[in-house]
Amino acid sequence: MEKTRIGVVGCGMISDIYLTNLTGRFGHAVQVMAVSDLSQDRAAAQAEKYHIPKVMSAQEMIDSPQIDILLNLTTPRVHFEICEKALLGGKHIYTEKPLSLSYAQGKRLLELAEKRGLYIGCATDTFLGAGLQTCRKLIDDGAIGKPLAATAFMMSHGWEGAHQNPDFYYLTGGGPMFDMGPYYISALVSLLGPAKEVAAMTSRGFETRTILCGPRKGQSIPVEVPTHITGTIRFETGAVATVITTFDVWETPLPFLEIYGTQGTIVGPDPNTYQGPVLLRSAVDPTPGQVSMANQYWENSRGLGLTEMALAIKRGEPARAGGRLGLHVLEIMEGFHRSGQDSRFISLESRCERPRAFIEENLI
Ligand SMILES: NC(=O)c1ccc[n+]([C@@H]2O[C@H](COP(=O)([O-])OP(=O)(O)OC[C@H]3O[C@@H](n4cnc5c(N)ncnc54)[C@H](O)[C@@H]3O)[C@@H](O)[C@H]2O)c1
Repeated sequence: MEKTRIGVVGCGMISDIYLTNLTGRFGHAVQVMAVSDLSQDRAAAQAEKYHIPKVMSAQEMIDSPQIDILLNLTTPRVHFEICEKALLGGKHIYTEKPLSLSYAQGKRLLELAEKRGLYIGCATDTFLGAGLQTCRKLIDDGAIGKPLAATAFMMSHGWEGAHQNPDFYYLTGGGPMFDMGPYYISALVSLLGPAKEVAAMTSRGFETRTILCGPRKGQSIPVEVPTHITGTIRFETGAVATVITTFDVWETPLPFLEIYGTQGTIVGPDPNTYQGPVLLRSAVDPTPGQVSMANQYWENSRGLGLTEMALAIKRGEPARAGGRLGLHVLEIMEGFHRSGQDSRFISLESRCERPRAFIEENLI
């Protein structure tokens, strides 16, 4: 089978794991043909490290007949611009999250892709990993009966101790909801299906943040977005979820993700990972039992969603980490912010199919 040819735009922090996986474990299906960055040095360094044949500009990639899909690993503010250019230039695109800064922008991208018969895919793809697919299999197999409710907690004190340029985490398009929400909300939609309405209260614990590592250590950066969001989601099935995402909290023993059904409870993994463990407490056996994994993607498998999309294009099937899911997640996240601002429930306009399960027989 011919490999799908990829051009990577953005050679920052997350590019290493993508390039490792795309040139390694997913290298049988995809081939990275070129990398691009505003910093020529950064792009050249990644090209050398991962034996990528070319360094190009994003526009050169769009114009090149040697490239099938652009992988957009730029910062959130640039996502829309790169995706729109790629689609207008006739290229499929897979972008890091969030799909765009606003639902309106995301909708424009989806319309453009659909009009031109192109695929648009969007991270996160951790919901395809072993941990969350094990939860999915338990639900599909009826292990907890009918799912009634869920809780999801992303509790942290932000990224300024781990990222040398954390500015984007605190500007529009960032914050704990737009940055980390996609992992949790994609997981919830994959497990419980599409949502109907959301509500939230939001706050901002700190007016500025101080960078704690790298060459800019000690520099103060502005905070533009809410950094504590406590929200609720009502799904089309009637199930409801409580979701907190925060960059204002130091330590807490709260679980990452739990699903409550008529017959039992699933204690899920951190949705920002591909791994387990997954515990099941059923009405008949309340002792928590660890469940064996439903697929083999428990290591950091970034690039799995893109590779699955590459194969879906060949088969003419919808991609699991597709744009409709990305847009629905974006509307939910924006809905939380709007609800917090306006003190009202937000009905959702977008809808997506619950992505198909991705279990053992779907390995790629
Ligand atoms: N850092 C993480 O741990 C992490 C984890 C998962 C997802 N992500 C997501 O990945 C994306 C990138 O994050 P990052 O941490 O790698 O950011 P980063 O700031 O380290 O890197 C972004 C890179 O994009 C480049 N860039 C910006 N505009 C460009 C353009 N027009 N053309 C070419 N290159 C351009 C920048 O020069 C920079 O090198 C974000 O959407 C983020 O949400 C990051």
